[in-house]
Amino acid sequence: MKHLIDIESISQSDILDIIESARQYKNGQNIPNLQHRTAALMFYENSTRTKCSFEIAGKKLGMNVINFDTAHSSLSKGESLKDTVENLYALGVDIIIIRHSLSGIIYNILNQIKCPIQFVNAGDGTRSHPTQALLDFFTITEKIKTAEGKKITIVGDITHSRVAKSNIKLLSKFGADIHVCAPSYMNFKNPDIYNITYHQDLKSAIKDADVVMALRIQNERHEKEGYPDSAEYKRLYGINSELFSKYAAKNAILMHPGPVNTDIELTAELLESKAGETILEQAHNGVFVRMAILNNLINQKGEG
Ligand code: CP
Repeated sequence: MKHLIDIESISQSDILDIIESARQYKNGQNIPNLQHRTAALMFYENSTRTKCSFEIAGKKLGMNVINFDTAHSSLSKGESLKDTVENLYALGVDIIIIRHSLSGIIYNILNQIKCPIQFVNAGDGTRSHPTQALLDFFTITEKIKTAEGKKITIVGDITHSRVAKSNIKLLSKFGADIHVCAPSYMNFKNPDIYNITYHQDLKSAIKDADVVMALRIQNERHEKEGYPDSAEYKRLYGINSELFSKYAAKNAILMHPGPVNTDIELTAELLESKAGETILEQAHNGVFVRMAILNNLINQKGEG
């Protein structure tokens, strides 16, 4: 693993190594020292959880972490992304953590640069968000030990969600029974390529589910503004405490990658209930999983 670009390009054993290291770091054990290594956060799209947790993760490992200011860099003077990356490497940056609206951006950059700088994908367009899927998997294994054979239901804006796609790919590798519930205009165009069960009806989707993962409606990626109608979405796909406790399995986990459109995807009372606590645990776990990712990549530099 020289880069972390997507779930497809990492092995099951790499995933398990990351999960095990994250578990140890969370327990305060075996925290590596990556002093003298430098990470650059290059975020072209907004972020709270991913950006801040990578910064905290890098600092916990003793790394230098720089916030590359995309709005005020020489990119605004016409410098290319290729030249920018090569200059950052010349300045001593080892690893770039990038979020960009263009799906596959890291593959484009790698085709152009000559330097051996490393990349972590912090979300590219609607394609991939591998670090979110890894922290979600960590949270699932922490709560219910394994994903194998567990009914995991993902609800919402599947088409535009890089989180859903990375989760489906990762959870499939580990034998989860994946169900999806989405309005037709938010569902996959070619659903058959994924080995998952589709539902139009939310109750049947979450019935006996061990994990219910709601997604954010990705309004910024919709072609038509104000669509879907929030009230209609909430009526058909919004999850409240009554629905969750009545239909999901006993001790089911409620997840959401955040940020939540409160009272649309999940009601405020569900978020404030015991079940809602897992969502902040996901964010918390992100720090340890991202520490494990940085350490894994820095230590295997050049092998991928
Ligand atoms: N889940 C997630 O990617 O959140 P941010 O957009 O805040 O990083």
